[in-house]
Amino acid sequence: MKTIEFENRFGLRYLSKLAFQDVAIEKQVKDKCEKTLKRKDYQTENRWHTSLFQREIEREVEIPFEIKEVHPLIGYGVFAIKKIPFLTFLGEYTGLIRKRNRRIDKSNDYVFGYSIGPKDTKWVIDASEQGNFTRFINHSDEPNLTSTWIVLDGLSHIIFFANRLILPGEQLTYDYGPYYWRKRAAPLDL
Ligand SMILES: C[S@@+](CC[C@H](N)C(=O)[O-])C[C@H]1O[C@@H](n2cnc3c(N)ncnc32)[C@H](O)[C@@H]1O
Repeated sequence: MKTIEFENRFGLRYLSKLAFQDVAIEKQVKDKCEKTLKRKDYQTENRWHTSLFQREIEREVEIPFEIKEVHPLIGYGVFAIKKIPFLTFLGEYTGLIRKRNRRIDKSNDYVFGYSIGPKDTKWVIDASEQGNFTRFINHSDEPNLTSTWIVLDGLSHIIFFANRLILPGEQLTYDYGPYYWRKRAAPLDL
């Protein structure tokens, strides 16, 4: 989806990459990434992720998709236009990296916990005002996407890949995890 189309249609800033609230947070995050990835077991896992997805991330490859309204209670969702093979890279969850604020974040639908490698951090990726199509991907208990992490050039990224073959017309979904729905109405089956 073109930047201009995304911004005009949704009134949001398009971000192809992660942004930082300020330079101090950027430095803290990068220092933490460097420290965390010193662990050998994370390095091994990251080599796998890198061998699978690095090219697509660097080239900003985008699979063909459509964003359309799903249901009055759900809003928009993202749908496949073409067949998506197993293990295809779908995209990176982009937004603003800032410190977690539990009070505010519980009513923000577009906050994704920012992990560095497999470890949770005190930061989140906030896509409420800026991001890309991944902010429109809905939740399912039986999702066709899996989210994971990859560290490239010293920075951790949250990415999505197809966990099975996805057919044209299918809605793309991932599992938001147990905490997301604790203070919200239970999710609908998708
Ligand atoms: C990250 S947004 C997903 C995109 C959203 N549908 C939109 O139009 O912007 C997350 C929000 O979408 C809705 N949502 C996502 N999956 C859902 C589901 N399975 N059942 C009900 N609502 C869902 C909830 O309002 C949730 O807080």
